[in-house]
Amino acid sequence: MSVLEIRDLHAKPTTDDVEILKGVDLVIRSGEIHAMMGPNGSGKSTLAYVIAGHPHYEVTQGDILLDGESILEMEPDERARIGIFLAFQYPVAVPGVSVANFLRTAVSNLRGYTRQEKDNGDGVIGSHLMPMRAFRKLLNEKMKEFNVDPSFARRYLNEGFSGGEKKRTEVLQMAMLEPKFAILDESDSGLDIDALKIVAEGINKLATPDRGFLIITHYQRILNYVKPHYVHIFYDGRIVRTGGPELAHELEEKGYQWVEQELATAATA
Ligand SMILES: Nc1ncnc2c1ncn2[C@@H]1O[C@H](COP(=O)(O)OP(=O)(O)O)[C@@H](O)[C@H]1O
Ligand SMILES: [Mg+2]
Repeated sequence: MSVLEIRDLHAKPTTDDVEILKGVDLVIRSGEIHAMMGPNGSGKSTLAYVIAGHPHYEVTQGDILLDGESILEMEPDERARIGIFLAFQYPVAVPGVSVANFLRTAVSNLRGYTRQEKDNGDGVIGSHLMPMRAFRKLLNEKMKEFNVDPSFARRYLNEGFSGGEKKRTEVLQMAMLEPKFAILDESDSGLDIDALKIVAEGINKLATPDRGFLIITHYQRILNYVKPHYVHIFYDGRIVRTGGPELAHELEEKGYQWVEQELATAATA
């Protein structure tokens, strides 16, 4: 059982003095699925990046803790190693790197093979990657479990991938890395229904009692396929409301203007 806790988090871009996150409080426990909904530009992606430790952002106040320990001083790869996974909103294509190679590097890094090479120094060529045989076995298992065509592994990462194929890679990556907390920043506007179903199916399979999810989304469509325990409304750099799945439907019905109006009314009351 793990807890990811975000306490009064304030953050800004390193290149700019404009605060984007203005005091975010959030606790995610293993086994919980949290949905974060909010209008474009409200800072949802920034929150995801800051949790993952993206160097373009600077935390100016507050803290992020995993099981009570601050992760703010950790580099992104260290955060990944302790179990924080971020699926990017816009995955980049990497020509020349196959899905299998990419996954082998990622899994090896996470399981400490890369560090081993650094520690040992010379004469251990090759030991920085998980042994091919073991890796293949793991990959085949996961591809089978998540209905990924075996030919997929040889293709170049995200190059010419459809929305659905990108999502399949994302799910496969998550399945291989087995994070404690997975953050998915969904550009669901660009996803067709098949791609949406692929992510949803993946999340539902991976949503075990030892894993927590933060699903960031603009629309509630994906929530037709994944049932969150909590829904948060994100607005202007902070969480302004928290509720159950019904909150997503209310939002879908009334639109984000409803939140704005409520906030304006509360401010003048
Ligand atoms: N690196 C950055 N430098 C400057 N402004 C940024 C940077 N990243 C995000 N912003 C600004 O912060 C606001 C929130 O952006 P973002 O987190 O992408 O919102 P969302 O994901 O909710 O659409 C936007 O106004 C955006 O332009
Ligand atoms: Mg975004």
